[in-house]
Amino acid sequence: MNTAPHTPTELRPPADSVFSVRDLWKVFGPKADRVPADKELASLGAAELRERTGCTAAVRDVSFDVRKGEVFVVMGLSGSGKSTLVRCLTRLIEPTSGTISIDGEDVLSMDTGRLRELRRHRAAMVFQHFGLLPHRTVLDNIAYGLEIQGVGRAERRERATEFVSKVGLDGMEHRRPSQLSGGQQQRVGLARALAVDPEVLLFDEPFSALDPLIRRDMQEEVVRLHREEGRTMVFITHDLSEALKLGDRIALMQGGRIVQLGTPEEIVGAPADDYVRDFVRDVPREQVLTVRSAMRPALAGERDAGPALDPGATVHEAIEAVARTGENARVVEGGRCLGVVDHAGLLGVVAGVPVAPGKAVA
Ligand SMILES: Nc1ncnc2c1ncn2[C@@H]1O[C@H](COP(=O)(O)OP(=O)(O)OP(=O)(O)O)[C@@H](O)[C@H]1O
Ligand SMILES: [Mg+2]
Repeated sequence: MNTAPHTPTELRPPADSVFSVRDLWKVFGPKADRVPADKELASLGAAELRERTGCTAAVRDVSFDVRKGEVFVVMGLSGSGKSTLVRCLTRLIEPTSGTISIDGEDVLSMDTGRLRELRRHRAAMVFQHFGLLPHRTVLDNIAYGLEIQGVGRAERRERATEFVSKVGLDGMEHRRPSQLSGGQQQRVGLARALAVDPEVLLFDEPFSALDPLIRRDMQEEVVRLHREEGRTMVFITHDLSEALKLGDRIALMQGGRIVQLGTPEEIVGAPADDYVRDFVRDVPREQVLTVRSAMRPALAGERDAGPALDPGATVHEAIEAVARTGENARVVEGGRCLGVVDHAGLLGVVAGVPVAPGKAVA
């Protein structure tokens, strides 16, 4: 980590940070190191950089923290650098420059043994194409990561059996991967990663090969696992609705850079630039934004009347409450009224238009 005295506070990892990444570059091509080191080369666009140096900058000067217990989504179009970025975290791809740490430990200075430990115990990866062993049963595939760790046979079997149920594959323990549907195979991949009890799960587009219904099932599985176990996850997707559904925070990548990093509500409610705005244009805003974005201060007499909503309620839920009761809704936290949502505020959010405070309809 850069320890220069003028390092801004926001560049120091927060206390609950699992992965902490600063100024990370991955450049493919000849003499790749000179690109991040040279201001002029570093500022070139993709085509010009390729023409001048024969290099591709897959990840460009990226900094972020993955916090303990969150689902951190990396989203972006094909070729934007998602897989490269996530593979750099465990050095499946060797970064060109920058720093990466896990729980404060420098990943780039890890020796082979320590790196193996990182990949086997601390950060397990779930791939798009499952990566199952075709001649092994479901149970043995799930136990495989434990086998590599050197866990004894009896304990492996016991732990694997537990995860068979956890991902809903009861009764299929003795099948081989070819006897399973795509969704079931991905459940095996997920169980195998979970069985080693990693601190972080890294998913590289795990569900993109699945048909929409199975995909939804698997997304719900991830949401459930996250809710029940509070496991930290880094989840790559190019699907915006998947990102919004799963992500506590989303890093939106374009051309190797993170163009915006924020909660789904921040990305949809306050896009950082035209690219992001375009990306989220078709999102039903009322499903993502919370009542906080539609709220105005309560007038006298409004604090005790009307339906009460939690500040985390969506605008969609507020519309339902207001429509059902015919009254403005109050936003209440810990017994305190934070504000009021009325028709104008709710319509303003749906239309993407801010409501002028003076014009709020009481
Ligand atoms: N080994 C490599 N050598 C040269 N260029 C590479 C290599 N691997 C990736 N790239 C380039 O780096 C860029 C980012 O690739 P990456 O695989 O990270 O994208 P992605 O966002 O994961 O895309 P997708 O959604 O298609 O999986 C692309 O332009 C790609 O062509
Ligand atoms: Mg990829």
